[in-house]
Amino acid sequence: MSTTFSAPGKIYLFGEHAVVYGEPAIACAVDIRTRVTAKKSDTIAISSDLGTTGLDFDIHPYVCSVIEKLGPVNVSVDISSELPVGSGLGSSAAVTIATLAAINIEFGLGYSKEELAGMGHEIEQKVQGAASPTDTFVSTFGGVVEIPARKRLDMLDCGIVIGNTNKGATPKKTAKLIEQVAILRQEHPEVINPIIKTIGSIAKKGELLVKKKDYASLGKLMNVNHGLLDALGVGTTELSALVYAARNAGAFGAKITGAGGGGCMVALTESPQKVASAIERAGGKAIMTRATAGGVLEE
Ligand code: MEV
Repeated sequence: MSTTFSAPGKIYLFGEHAVVYGEPAIACAVDIRTRVTAKKSDTIAISSDLGTTGLDFDIHPYVCSVIEKLGPVNVSVDISSELPVGSGLGSSAAVTIATLAAINIEFGLGYSKEELAGMGHEIEQKVQGAASPTDTFVSTFGGVVEIPARKRLDMLDCGIVIGNTNKGATPKKTAKLIEQVAILRQEHPEVINPIIKTIGSIAKKGELLVKKKDYASLGKLMNVNHGLLDALGVGTTELSALVYAARNAGAFGAKITGAGGGGCMVALTESPQKVASAIERAGGKAIMTRATAGGVLEE
């Protein structure tokens, strides 16, 4: 007997960075999943692409933190992930939440989904030093979510293509980019505060457009949001190359997703294959996906 759960990654449709200053943002779970199988065992064994280890916090910090938090329990954990690690798509939240859920059921611990999401956030904070609750919340519950209100919006009913620059957006780098924006804001509050407010108003408007399924207008606002992220200094040459390639291939719109400085961009489109090919030609790794209502699920 063993228990397998999967949990999704996420993109930001609008609002990264501005959300740090209390502005609304819209995040969306995407059907790119991390699967974790937990099995009662005599010892602790964790297997992933990184190899098989015991309770080794250097190699498997998130899974080890889950095992420690829930026991510790003697468990063998097997991880397989479709999510590129450290690319801003919430891979650490997905592995944390899927592991919490699998061990919770395998050992009959009886935690609710809310409790698992809360523990997942605490673990991300401990491992990374700082983390917003967005990734663990969206990975647990799925869907399209306005944050910080945690309001569930309608599903996005069109193609989503992610382009990975393959330049790592590690948690450390995220902290550095947040600090960089904070410094720019301190130096030029009268210039930067209106940009942050405008990103918030894009997310607010986006909520209505998601409801109307107006993907053309959502795309236009994604383009505006990308320009504003660039203005905040978190863009890169590679990200913009993929964003423009996607737009030129007919995407409704395209922007950075996550902290920037590398990592991924995202496009909404009716022609995912065409946009994905353009992203690959521009030097990125394309992933075609959809929004998913499913958060953490038993398989
Ligand atoms: C990083 O994925 C998104 C930021 O807004 C930080 C956060 O909300 O945790 C930059």
